[in-house]
Amino acid sequence: MTILKWLFFTVIFVPWLASSSGKQFSRNSQLRQDSVITNQGNVLFNEEVKLQPRSKRETALSVDQDSSMLFQPADAPDDSAPPPAEEDASELPTCLLCVCLTGSVYCEEVVPDMTAVPTLPKETAYFYARYNKIKKITAKDFADTVTLRRIDLTGNMISDIEDGAFSKLAMLEELSLAENRLVKLPMLPSKLTSFNANFNQLGTKGVKATAFKKLTQLVNLFLADNILEAIPQIPESVRTIHLQNNNITIVSADSFCKGNDTYYIRSNLNEVRMDGNPVILAKYPNSFTCLKSLPIGKYH
Ligand SMILES: *[C@@H]1O[C@H](CO)[C@@H](O)[C@H](O)[C@H]1NC(C)=O
Ligand SMILES: *[C@@H]1O[C@H](CO)[C@@H](O)[C@H](O)[C@H]1NC(C)=O
Repeated sequence: MTILKWLFFTVIFVPWLASSSGKQFSRNSQLRQDSVITNQGNVLFNEEVKLQPRSKRETALSVDQDSSMLFQPADAPDDSAPPPAEEDASELPTCLLCVCLTGSVYCEEVVPDMTAVPTLPKETAYFYARYNKIKKITAKDFADTVTLRRIDLTGNMISDIEDGAFSKLAMLEELSLAENRLVKLPMLPSKLTSFNANFNQLGTKGVKATAFKKLTQLVNLFLADNILEAIPQIPESVRTIHLQNNNITIVSADSFCKGNDTYYIRSNLNEVRMDGNPVILAKYPNSFTCLKSLPIGKYH
């Protein structure tokens, strides 16, 4: 046990202290951190990988078993580690429960259960909290970390998001709320390029037609495996939209194209998934004339 604590202290705690008390992080660890972020990002916001979340997760679990012993000693979270005098104590628990690197906080499948967003160190840019038991996002959770660029809350139990929880994050580019229990979308910040709300309980009442209208930089919009009955307005910038496995029964001439402008070409949008919906796309030939390729879905 003493060895475990010592390991924990030297492997996690000392590097964290070094990173948070100055910018003299070596080039090596900076490189390492960048590659971690890149790998994570590719997994997180790549829909194809996310199609088998459970099995992926289990694989990750068994592979991680050894290292997670190191990162989470049985007696970790409470009074076992002496707080150093010169540090801000309020930041300690998060970085003992989670792995903190400069700018990034990784809290994945945290033990004991994480049921709320932890206090994030100032200037956190990347926050990963996948597969925990977070139920609610409050307006305070991210109020002091306006530096956030990516938040991944995939696989929690979130059903409630307070007004303003995300909308003030002016630098936020990627947000995943996939595999939660949302019935209603939160207000989204305008710089988003990627938004993932696959596998929720979003119906048409919870997703206003204009919900994405102001997101002029949005590229990827994932709303698959919900219970949507209508297609929300899709910003011009969007390249990929996933609406498969919803309850959509109709497509209008304005859903993707401009009903009154037959010369309009929608050049950005090149991947539309509509499979797994009741709608028969062949009934709406005039709805896709502006697209370079037809949506994936039922045609007869
Ligand atoms: C799908 O839509 C139909 C009406 O078009 C409705 O009766 C049905 O309950 C909906 N299914 C779900 C799962 O919401
Ligand atoms: C087409 O419809 C849009 C929205 O309904 C409107 O803003 C636009 O002026 C119309 N264009 C023409 C040429 O009628």
